[in-house]
Amino acid sequence: MRIAVISDMHGNATAFETVVRDLHEQSPDIIVCLGDIVMRGPQPVECLEMVKALNPFTVVRGNYDDKFLKPAWTPKSYKQEIQLRALEYDCDRLSLENQKWLTQLPAEFSCEYEGVPTELYHASPKSLYEITYPWASLDELDQLHKYDQTKLVLFGHIHHAFVRQCRGRLIVNCGSIGMSFDGDNRASYAIVDIAKRDIAIQLRRVEYDIDLAIQIARNQRMPDLDSFEYALRTARYPYDAAKELPVT
Ligand SMILES: [Fe+2]
Repeated sequence: MRIAVISDMHGNATAFETVVRDLHEQSPDIIVCLGDIVMRGPQPVECLEMVKALNPFTVVRGNYDDKFLKPAWTPKSYKQEIQLRALEYDCDRLSLENQKWLTQLPAEFSCEYEGVPTELYHASPKSLYEITYPWASLDELDQLHKYDQTKLVLFGHIHHAFVRQCRGRLIVNCGSIGMSFDGDNRASYAIVDIAKRDIAIQLRRVEYDIDLAIQIARNQRMPDLDSFEYALRTARYPYDAAKELPVT
């Protein structure tokens, strides 16, 4: 069985379209999506429609998908100011039906793929926000599952692809399609092959037209274009570099 694992498009439809072409060449049996489909990129509607068109086996909710249809809030840091502007931009574009669709996605999913018990999260079993870095300790990695029998954990959120083994489990982060933070500015996703309980992982990187993605954002008058461009070109986390204000 071949599973394509996609995550964190963040409204970057240019990157996502390129990944979808690559993904079809891989002929996966199923596709799973780990959230953060929208926000921070210029084309949330296109990304959402593309996810639906892929007819994924499951989609779990990311922390950015979770921001819609919530009471108004006041930003307390530069990062939150950017998030609020991104939310307003997306709310102007996404229908209420689509906003509801995003917020009603499940926070987690578990099932057995060819005899391999698997858990899927955006970030962790505990929250949509928790950060587990590629260099996490074994004890930290061990927090990424709920069930003792689980052999495979798939998660996104950190925009940094990696594969680690931890106490009999394979932990896979598929990276981000729309906005990598791992120093490699290509789009990232994963192909998981399972056969007779053996698991093989490909962390795939796909080059896409970054200039076009930035041009689309400029044409759309997307807020915080400088931070978007910085993230796309450098594949680095953009908030800290932009302003020295508290980051939460
Ligand atoms: Fe994300």
